[in-house]
Amino acid sequence: MDVELRGITKRFGAVVANDNVNMVIRGGEVLGLLGENGAGKSTMMNILSGLYSPDEGEILIDGKPVSFDGPGDGIAAGIGMVHQHFMLVPVFTVAENVVLGVEPTKRLGYLDLKKARAQVDEINKKYGLHVPADALIEDLPVGIQQRVEILKVLFREADVLILDEPTAVLTPQEVEDFFSIVRSLKEAGKAIVFITHKLHEILAISDRINVLRQGRITGEGVPESLDEAKLAEMMVGRPVSFTVDKTEANPGRAMLEMTDVIMLDDADERLLDKVSLTVHSGEVVGVAGVQGNGQTELVEAITGLERVASGKIIFDGEDITHASVRERHSRGMAHIPEDRHRDGMISTFTIAENMVLNSYYEPAFARGMAIDWASVQKTAAKYCVDFDVRTPSVFLPAGNLSGGNQQKMVVARELERQTKLVIASQPTRGLDVGSIEYIHARLIEARDEGDGVLIVSSELDEIMGLADRILVMFDGRIVAEFDNTGGKADRNAVGLAMAGAHEGAAA
Ligand SMILES: Nc1ncnc2c1ncn2[C@@H]1O[C@H](COP(=O)(O)OP(=O)(O)OP(=O)(O)O)[C@@H](O)[C@H]1O
Ligand SMILES: [Mg+2]
Repeated sequence: MDVELRGITKRFGAVVANDNVNMVIRGGEVLGLLGENGAGKSTMMNILSGLYSPDEGEILIDGKPVSFDGPGDGIAAGIGMVHQHFMLVPVFTVAENVVLGVEPTKRLGYLDLKKARAQVDEINKKYGLHVPADALIEDLPVGIQQRVEILKVLFREADVLILDEPTAVLTPQEVEDFFSIVRSLKEAGKAIVFITHKLHEILAISDRINVLRQGRITGEGVPESLDEAKLAEMMVGRPVSFTVDKTEANPGRAMLEMTDVIMLDDADERLLDKVSLTVHSGEVVGVAGVQGNGQTELVEAITGLERVASGKIIFDGEDITHASVRERHSRGMAHIPEDRHRDGMISTFTIAENMVLNSYYEPAFARGMAIDWASVQKTAAKYCVDFDVRTPSVFLPAGNLSGGNQQKMVVARELERQTKLVIASQPTRGLDVGSIEYIHARLIEARDEGDGVLIVSSELDEIMGLADRILVMFDGRIVAEFDNTGGKADRNAVGLAMAGAHEGAAA
């Protein structure tokens, strides 16, 4: 099935999200869609899937114009979308989620789960998805949840699959598995639109690449004639530096000291197993590791989102082991959470409100018992300018921002304050290369102003580029430490430690 989008224009108030865009999508092909944050990628695909209707332009399927009145029409025409933010019901099983809305029923309308399960298994086998049909969504790692979303679309017999930043939350191994699924879909004749901010991924899997900037197509090509530098420039309109520009660290006093911290799960298993670490003022400590080895829990312990069972956490000389989140924050701890939707923002609140979510009660924004909205607005507007959060007004709901701009909003709020310690978890998730360059510079700036900076990232490149010292987590423990002054840590050795090879050899 071939699809053509012709002259698509979509406006949101004063914002022109798509400006007369033409795009062709062919069966048996992967179209890579690239573009800076807010360029209009998700909007374009929401139009193709029938979720939004365009202000101008038309969609042709195999040469015939179609018009969609909602995602139901898109699906009926064979177009399915896996959204940037998952839309699964956590307490339902895989099979229940897959059939939601199109349930096969027995006579009298009872849900025929047995039939659903059989259909799920068939799709599973056909495309090598390996998803357990009876598992609860909430018990599955994100990589598998992702496949459930794909299953859902295939179950509805989609011929065109739109995948909006599917790899943003995947580990490198999961990305490999995901790519083999994409290849088998392609071989089966499906058309795939793949959106990502990772240039090496788009070069690896696409047959053709389209680049969007400010709502317009600014570049097209095939991977063979493109490289990362060319793509970056097409996207943001200027050359982008892929290496972090920084001087040698100048570590001072201990800002964060953790000693023998143990965190337990409901079954009393150790999520953190006697973790001890120090982050000094003026240094960036990077925590590397395969996702799921305790990094999330480490950050929860430091920021106070979860209780620890034993051990000590000292922040700039004060014991904060049992302090509240708010107390840690007001002592000068910044936190960029790994899941911006769960811990970083409230989508229905305005951008201005989100910018002061954890500081509205501070003197700068308080007027007696009330909030000084003029001051909030001024601050929010400044944060948006500094971090290039693209919005026509700070009084729009934060949920209207594009995914990357939501991330920039959260990072701005956390880094613009006076802080002593920055805990940054996946700080550049979903950001375009230009924004990554800026956020990295700001993190180094925080370091150079004397903050202790702890970065948790599943991107080894990010850790290698930013960190002065690297700690590797495996199975709830810190299993290795590397000096990365001048980028001298051995990448292979770090990788081996991540795979558990360094057990017992912690420095
Ligand atoms: N529902 C909406 N209401 C108002 N404005 C919107 C809405 N959806 C998108 N926009 C605006 O349209 C523009 C394009 O957003 P879109 O989400 O398509 O960007 P994107 O290319 O997917 O970016 P990202 O890489 O950050 O996900 C942005 O300026 C965004 O703020
Ligand atoms: Mg998007």
